[in-house]
Amino acid sequence: MSPENTGPAAVIVLAAGAGTRMKSRTPKILHEIGGRSLVGHALHAARTIRPQELALVVRHERDLVAAHIADIDPAALIVDQDEVPGTGRAVEAALEALDALHPQRQLSGTVVVTYGDVPLLTGGLLAELVASHEAGHNAVTVLTAVLSDATGYGRILRAADGTVTGIREHKDATDAERDIREVNSGIYAFDAAVLRDSLAHVTTDNAQGEKYLTDVLALARAAGGRVAAVVTEDRWQVEGANDRVQLSALGAELNRRTVEAWMRAGVTVVDPATTWIDATVTLDEDVRLLPNTQLHGATTVARDAVVGPDSTLTDVQVGEGAKVIRTHGSGSTIGAKASVGPFTYLRPGTVLGETGKIGAFYETKNVTIGRGSKLSHLGYAGDAEIGEDTNIGCGNITANYDGEKKHRTVIGSGVRTGSNTVFVAPVQVGDGAYSGAGAVIRRDVPPGALVLSLAQQQNTEGWVLANRPDSISASLAAAAGATTTSSSTPASTEEG
Ligand code: UD1
Ligand code: MG
Repeated sequence: MSPENTGPAAVIVLAAGAGTRMKSRTPKILHEIGGRSLVGHALHAARTIRPQELALVVRHERDLVAAHIADIDPAALIVDQDEVPGTGRAVEAALEALDALHPQRQLSGTVVVTYGDVPLLTGGLLAELVASHEAGHNAVTVLTAVLSDATGYGRILRAADGTVTGIREHKDATDAERDIREVNSGIYAFDAAVLRDSLAHVTTDNAQGEKYLTDVLALARAAGGRVAAVVTEDRWQVEGANDRVQLSALGAELNRRTVEAWMRAGVTVVDPATTWIDATVTLDEDVRLLPNTQLHGATTVARDAVVGPDSTLTDVQVGEGAKVIRTHGSGSTIGAKASVGPFTYLRPGTVLGETGKIGAFYETKNVTIGRGSKLSHLGYAGDAEIGEDTNIGCGNITANYDGEKKHRTVIGSGVRTGSNTVFVAPVQVGDGAYSGAGAVIRRDVPPGALVLSLAQQQNTEGWVLANRPDSISASLAAAAGATTTSSSTPASTEEG
């Protein structure tokens, strides 16, 4: 046992079921709410109680599920369930696989069983279950809830003195038993030895022809063990996602809880109903989130920053005191006191320095922008490096793609570029250089130079009156003094 794994001997997460009601090519437990798959939430809760071993029982779409687990929790043991159906068989398979890890000794102590499709269960409630189980020296402790409609669930059977005697599955229950509203959540703490011995005696002799885990309770009691229940008032924590209606309801409730927790931690959320925060996001005190803001993945927002309205950030680091307005961003870093938006598209690899600015109608990708530099309006900056205190004029573009390869643009510090400057990469602009409006920079610009792309401007006077005689332009031009006679005179030109 490693020092950080001081919890129960094992958590077994059951996830072999098909989840047909989702009507999906994606296995049910890989569907996501709040930035994690359903099974991701289950494993996260399981990890919080620091089990010495964590096993996940799979069968349906086994390879897809195993690949996902390898991604999110590679230390979890994947256990294959055989053709014998039922939750009891699933747990038996897990116990065998866990015992095989340590051939010299059988698993002993507390074994927790949970489901892969119960995403709102918290580590806190699991810890309560384990604490109550161990304090009572129980053989089995089952987590239950009292529902107004218990249809479909296993019912908790209690003796006259209130002690738990067993669980009856809905399909096997009598009418009187179906009136019981206390239900089995499917989440339990077991003594490993009792679990192993009882499962050996569980049959498939029931309405569904399955090996029921629930039969362990009556067997454990008959063998003299204490069987008890922890009743939770919080039905959301034991609710499974079986179809897309439940998935959405669970997603909304998870979000409501996440948003509320952040408000209690000192974050202002102006409109909780339109603010969506993944379980994986972190926020500092005094962050302000304005309506219609979605924060996803590994996004972090530092103190005093304001995000929104109407912003979606995925894996974005927002620095202290930064402002991000109407922005769609991913894989980016926004420095302290920097400002972004409105109507800004930050693509992966955007790094904006402190007090910098990426303004309206800008798209950025794979660009590092130094402290205090500003890209205020209308442009594209990609595959580029921009120094400090540089001002990029309106409508500037890095032309980074030659049709086959991407090339880099390097712009120094203290640079001032005119409107509509185009940087034809690969190209470098030295510190303190200037460009004039419409410059097309194809060759490197030395520090401090002014770069102009000269094109002649030609005015052909009287052209509109001669060629668009009946137009509104012609009548307004005539009223302003234009005449057709001058159309035959040589064009006046001006160096641009
Ligand atoms: C089970 C319980 C029931 C409880 C309900 C709570 C049994 C016999 N019944 O019923 O008392 O009220 O959960 O939701 O345990 N699974 C496997 N292998 C299997 C069968 C199921 O891994 O062979 C997994 C499923 O993927 C699922 C969980 O176990 O995550 C529960 O299976 P499900 O078929 O939904 O059980 P219920 O019949 O609803
Ligand atoms: Mg079932």
